[in-house]
Amino acid sequence: MTAPGKGRTPEPAPPTTLFLFGAHGDLVKRLLMPALYNLSRDGLLGEGLRIVGVDHNPISDADFALKLENFIRNEAASKVGNGQDSLDPQLWAALAKGISYVRGDFLDEQTYRDLAAKIAANGTANAVFYLATAPRFFTEVVTRLGAAGLLEESAEGFRRVVIEKPFGSDLQTAEALNACLLKVMTEKQIYRIDHYLGKETVQNILVSRFSNSLFEAFWNNHYIDHVQITAAETVGVETRGSFYEHTGALRDMVPNHLFQLLAMVAMEPPAAFGADAVRGEKAKVVGAIRPWSVEQARANSVRGQYAAGKRDGQPLAGYREEPNVAPDSTTETFVALKVMIDNWRWVGVPFYLRTGKRMSVRDTEIVICFKPAPYAQFRDTEVDELQPTYLRIQIQPNEGMWFDLLAKRPGPELEMANIELGFAYKDFFTMQPSTGYETLIYDCLTGDQTLFQRADNIENGWRAVQPFLDAWKQDASVQAYAAGTDGPAAGDELLARDGRVWHRLG
Ligand code: BG6
Repeated sequence: MTAPGKGRTPEPAPPTTLFLFGAHGDLVKRLLMPALYNLSRDGLLGEGLRIVGVDHNPISDADFALKLENFIRNEAASKVGNGQDSLDPQLWAALAKGISYVRGDFLDEQTYRDLAAKIAANGTANAVFYLATAPRFFTEVVTRLGAAGLLEESAEGFRRVVIEKPFGSDLQTAEALNACLLKVMTEKQIYRIDHYLGKETVQNILVSRFSNSLFEAFWNNHYIDHVQITAAETVGVETRGSFYEHTGALRDMVPNHLFQLLAMVAMEPPAAFGADAVRGEKAKVVGAIRPWSVEQARANSVRGQYAAGKRDGQPLAGYREEPNVAPDSTTETFVALKVMIDNWRWVGVPFYLRTGKRMSVRDTEIVICFKPAPYAQFRDTEVDELQPTYLRIQIQPNEGMWFDLLAKRPGPELEMANIELGFAYKDFFTMQPSTGYETLIYDCLTGDQTLFQRADNIENGWRAVQPFLDAWKQDASVQAYAAGTDGPAAGDELLARDGRVWHRLG
């Protein structure tokens, strides 16, 4: 993330060999290559970028490049180009010139000798190893990269490793993975990706909060009653049944994406927009989440699972009928949680988090709910009660920020109405097609770790989530909700018992 306000044009990334482990996987085809194309469209890649696919299937360099090209043209066209044309033939040809492939088993040392040879042939010592693989390969690949000497940096070049999520499956496995990475490289070389941080609207939370002094005036427990963070999806588990069965909504979304949103909203102002300052503040606030006991975790969480339902009159299958899902599965596809942050700014302000698949609409939003104004002045008027007011930050799909405030309805009576002051991204900015990975890849190539997770940030997240996992080990029951709805009734009760309601989605 280029620090705001400097008005400088970003420099193209330095010459680098970018190894994509898991080159035949979905992530490379759907997101990473389209993002690299968009970076080259924007002049941010420079001449010296070499992209090397690494995977076990044999394929020639030319066929690998062609396969990527065909995929992007047919399947990812809406994410690339300039909105009218997808792939510009000249631009693609220039990028494709730098694409090659190494066939190799991730567990075989010969593969790593082949990678060393590639680096030597490419004429730059800079290398990034992007692990777009199944998580079981993370430690295997990193240990072998270390043993082969490929992670040793020198004055001639940097060596960096990008790790995708899931980063561990609980606190213990996340700590073990961090320990393994830090045995063979330093924290400065590790780029733990959370794609939510690539979203413009997520980056904007930080910039808007800290560039408009208005926000700081009310951003605390004097004026804020509670905060709601929702990531509602309409998609089901699709083809990922076997992954999702042992992951579930909590691990898949909470310690990573939802806690990133929570950290952006709740962190203290960093001293600068640099990686150390920003990540330090984020780690502090996530570390301040109150560690629930197992009983408290059970009382403050709801697990749901979608059953068969309907959207727009079309039937939707239940989770247990999805491919590679057990017919008696108790994996949660919906979770709602209440967490408390024990610091001066937030003490007493609950943060309610929820996420689910097959909900009524796609909507990722943060709702900052303000405390009600004192009612005294309205006692002798027609106004029976003051409706809650709030600030809604919509991350997707309709990106923007809206204040929902109260105003007087015109007329002789004193009647109140809710009105909206808003900003929609599309009304102010022209957004180029993108995948959300552009900034993250560029930042990794240029050595800016601000938008990547540091070890303590990840571990603090798992520490806050661990009591829920422990509670559910003892009682793994799930509440059914019909696909196409907003989760089980217990999700509403979690707020109702505190006298609150979820903001209506959509
Ligand atoms: C991924 C999860 O990390 O994020 C998916 O594994 C989820 O299950 C996805 O669908 C949501 O991302 P986005 O950008 O569509 O909100």
